[in-house]
Amino acid sequence: MKKLFLTGCVGFLILSCSKKENTPVDATPSETAVVSEPAKTNLSGDQIIETLDCTGCHTVNERMIGPSYQEIANKYSEKDIEILASKIIEGGSGVWGSVPMQPHPQVSKEDAKKMVEYILSQKK
Ligand code: HEC
Repeated sequence: MKKLFLTGCVGFLILSCSKKENTPVDATPSETAVVSEPAKTNLSGDQIIETLDCTGCHTVNERMIGPSYQEIANKYSEKDIEILASKIIEGGSGVWGSVPMQPHPQVSKEDAKKMVEYILSQKK
């Protein structure tokens, strides 16, 4: 029990340290005070996808309402992670057809990027 507690503490310390390092130095108080910013989860990309509605329109290798992850992976590369992450959050249309993808404003940028990284890793 005590050991578990200690491990939790150490894990938390490491997390909070690495988080500090990533904080841009020029972050103004007003930016950090934005409360509506969606929280980042500790889940991996494929786990985040499971918690959202993505699987209703996407599968790994078959086109449904949206393109398959393999199709997306074959079309894009690492340098497109940022753009694709914004598309998941803001929604998009016109790239694969006329059916639009609805926005997911509840998803944080970090989580969106993790999902994109997972999708791109499905490349054949
Ligand atoms: C209502 C159906 C639907 C849902 C739910 C959905 N998508 Fe999509 N998705 C689409 C469609 C349709 C497209 C093609 C849009 C286009 O042609 O620009 C697409 C495109 C994409 C693309 C490629 C964007 C591009 O510009 O090429 C990615 C990446 C993606 N979806 C990821 C996700 C993720 C991750 C989720 C879950 C958070 C999700 N989608 C949920 C329908 C959906």
